[in-house]
This record gives sequence, structure tokens and C-alpha cells, in this order.
Amino acid sequence: MYSFHEGYQRALGIDETGVPGMSRGTNNDPSMSEILNLTGKVAIVTGGAMGLGFCVVNRLCEAGARVVIADVADEYAERALGYFGDKGYVVRFVKADVTDVAQVKAAVDFTVKEFGAVDILVTDAGVWAHALLSEITEETFYEMIDINLKGTLFFIQAVADAMERQETGGRIVTVASVAGLSADQAPIMFEYVASKSAVVALTKSLAKGLKHKGIRINCVLPGGMLTPGAMTTHGTEAAKELRESTRSPLADPDDVARVIFMLSTPISDFMYGATLSVDGGAFLGIEE
Ligand SMILES: NC(=O)c1ccc[n+]([C@@H]2O[C@H](COP(=O)([O-])OP(=O)(O)OC[C@H]3O[C@@H](n4cnc5c(N)ncnc54)[C@H](O)[C@@H]3O)[C@@H](O)[C@H]2O)c1
Repeated sequence: MYSFHEGYQRALGIDETGVPGMSRGTNNDPSMSEILNLTGKVAIVTGGAMGLGFCVVNRLCEAGARVVIADVADEYAERALGYFGDKGYVVRFVKADVTDVAQVKAAVDFTVKEFGAVDILVTDAGVWAHALLSEITEETFYEMIDINLKGTLFFIQAVADAMERQETGGRIVTVASVAGLSADQAPIMFEYVASKSAVVALTKSLAKGLKHKGIRINCVLPGGMLTPGAMTTHGTEAAKELRESTRSPLADPDDVARVIFMLSTPISDFMYGATLSVDGGAFLGIEE
């Protein structure tokens, strides 16, 4: 931790005032490029094989982090490894279904064994579907809750445990959705809305639960993004018609990845349980 306050007081030459902590010599505050440098850090990105997760892996690696992609899509993950390998980035893949707690723990163990620690977790893996209320079944409901909510919670549990053992703290970024905070996606995404609003609440409660362990957790809420998942969304014809009648701004997933990156670095050191909408103004009703 560093203090800009102390730094500028010294710079202004008021370190003779006798105020405690004011006489440490020259200003050693890290520069912005040092704050954003993740060299030596290790990250896990769930769902990192494609879409938003892929873009997050890219930004973390660009800043020097070594990254483990935890995903079920092995074919896409292998292609991602090839792409990142060509750029000289250090990326590994572990096949892990976030709904399977044993696989989640194994993915975290793999990361610690491979890289010696885990400093950053981004819980990006998620699914959605378009369905009217009458079309929801127990099966579709539990599938969405399992991946979006249970997968998020148990991945955080496993990583927080590893971070606590390391005694180094860490940073966790959850991925919810602006859909989780508004009625805009009704009447076609009830299960999704429920799962993502739960991720927001989970993030806020965990922010308090993990702070004393030196773990900061914050949440990003994307609006619509052009990703492989978005282009192949399941849905009935009726749901599709309703979807097409709404016009929200669509993001390139890197627009969101950059904000997740920021929350993975010390630039967000004073943030706990924050929810950041990255939606081109959709939540405020600012349409294109
Ligand atoms: N695309 C959008 O418009 C949009 C909007 C708001 C929020 N989001 C959220 O952003 C996140 C990423 O979405 P995306 O658009 O990149 O999706 P995507 O479908 O393109 O990518 C999702 C990734 O998650 C992985 N995944 C799915 N189920 C998994 C499981 N059980 N275990 C491990 N990995 C699993 C997939 O294999 C894939 O690699 C999701 O949490 C999604 O809910 C997306």
C-alpha cells in the first residue's frame, strides 16, 4: 500500500510540520505503469476460452500476468492457447466445469502447483437463454443457477482458501450483468436475471467476509456484448421476437475486459463490493 497524500505533502515541502509519517524522504509513490503491471502475478479466468473471458486473459497477460483458463470448452481453449502462445504469453488450460466442486478445487490446485500461487480470480463462466415464464422448467432453472451462481460461489471459496494460505491476499472480479439489476430483460430472461442479481448480492456480502483476509472482490455488469455465446443464444421464436424489439448498445467484449483488468490491479485498491456497469449507457436507457 502506498500513500499519494504523504507523497504530495512531501513534494509541497510540508514534511517539517511534525505530522507523523511525513518525514520519509523522497516521494516513492509507484507510477501508473507500475500500478498496472501484473508481472509475477497469477490469475485464473473461468470461461476464458472464448468471448469476454478470452479478452480478459489477453489483457491480464499483456500486463505480465501468467493465466490459467478454467473452462469446459477444450477445443476453443486449445485454440486460445495457440493464439496466446504465439504472443509469448504464459497461459495454461485446465478443463473444469464450474458446477463440479471437485473439478473447481482441482483447477485451483493445478494453478498453485503450476505457478506457485493464485493472486487474481475472474469468474466469467456463464450461460443464458431466452425463455418466457411459461417455458421455464426445473431443469433449465437449475442449469443456469448451477453455472452462474453455484459456479461463482464455489470457485471463490476454493481461491479464497488458497489466497488465505498464501497470506498474500488477492483480487476477485465477478461477472454479473446489467440484466441482474433491471427489469429491462423481462419478459425473456427470468432465470438469468435471478442468477445474476444473486451474483451481485454475493459479491457485496463476500466483500465484507473477505476483507480481513486481504481479498478484494468487486463485480462488473456488462450490457450486451458480441461474443460467441451471444451469437448462439438459445430461445424460442416468441422470445426471439421480443428480444429483437429491444435495441441496446452492443459492446466489443474488450470494452468490458479493460474494466475487469482495472479491478484486477492495485488501481482498485480502495474498492470493495463495488458494481460497475459497462453497458454503453443501456442501464440508464441511453440507446443508440
Ligand atoms: N454476451 C453478453 O451479451 C453478456 C451480457 C452480460 C453479461 N454477460 C456475462 O459475461 C460472461 C461471459 O459471457 P460471454 O458472452 O463471453 O459468453 P460465451 O458463451 O461467449 O463464453 C462463455 C465461456 O464460459 C464457458 N462456460 C460455460 N459454462 C461453463 C461451465 N459450466 N464451466 C466452465 N466454463 C463454462 C464457455 O465454455 C465459454 O468459454 C457470462 O457470465 C455472461 O453471463 C454476457
